[in-house]
Amino acid sequence: MKRVHEELDKLSHRDSLWTQEAATRRSIHDLYDVGCRLTADSAGVGGEVRRGVRKADGKPFAVKVIRFAGTQEDRGQIQALMAVNHPGIIQLVDWFEDPQTLWVVMELALGGELFGRITQRGRFSESEAAAAVRQILEAVGHMHSRGIVHCDLKPENILYGSDAGDAIKVADFGFAQFVPDSLAGDALLHRPLGTFSYTAPEILNSEGYGCQVDMWSLGVIVYVLLSGVPPFFKRSSAETLHDVRLRIVKGTCARPPARPSCAARCATAPSTPGARRFRC
Ligand SMILES: Nc1ncnc2c1ncn2[C@@H]1O[C@H](COP(=O)(O)OP(=O)(O)O)[C@@H](O)[C@H]1O
Ligand SMILES: [Mg+2]
Repeated sequence: MKRVHEELDKLSHRDSLWTQEAATRRSIHDLYDVGCRLTADSAGVGGEVRRGVRKADGKPFAVKVIRFAGTQEDRGQIQALMAVNHPGIIQLVDWFEDPQTLWVVMELALGGELFGRITQRGRFSESEAAAAVRQILEAVGHMHSRGIVHCDLKPENILYGSDAGDAIKVADFGFAQFVPDSLAGDALLHRPLGTFSYTAPEILNSEGYGCQVDMWSLGVIVYVLLSGVPPFFKRSSAETLHDVRLRIVKGTCARPPARPSCAARCATAPSTPGARRFRC
């Protein structure tokens, strides 16, 4: 816990220096060529992700372009990425801001999303799933040890470093939060954040929550990996999100099918509730 306090102290110090630092920084366009979008749909609630090339050496990076309202909250994902350093987590390389935009330069993961591999394969074998989950757990353990809750773990936010390899990189710290200081008497988080079908009951119930919500999301990911279908989704057009919510809160999900029916029903397919990300 002492380390978490030290990190938070460092971060609040960074906050106070931030405006000064941002003002003295050069424009991203001096240092990088920012090009096309990395994925056709990489323009979600958090911004869009583009390919950037560093002018000095031609090295490619991913550049997340975030509409900036000038609030500290917008800077949260940069601060979270600054606080971590793990091979299983996308590395922050640089950041820039102007009055309208935050630019987050990150290492480029070339192997696509875990979501894409589930869709391709239908489902993972137990040993494939175990290898993936072990890496995600190590990355999540690291962020939790730094006092950071990811709050949006799902196959779209878990990337592969390369096409040929199986090295995993957890990405998208857009909803990441620092666990409050327990000594200040408020050890829980309260903002409702996440992607509906991966979201833990305590968030949906508007109860206080902590790092454990990431473990719930990881449980949903394990179910999807092994079965090829999500545990919580609208089973028919007659069902409402409220019905799905009740199942999540009770923790009741269908027995996984013996054979994968359609991995594309995985939580972000447009007709499923997983497509709905929310923040207060
Ligand atoms: N560092 C990266 N390397 C390669 N692709 C990335 C990287 N970061 C994000 N992406 C791609 O862009 C998508 C959207 O980025 P993400 O950070 O998840 O933003 P959003 O808040 O819009 O979900 C990801 O799902 C992934 O496909
Ligand atoms: Mg995302």
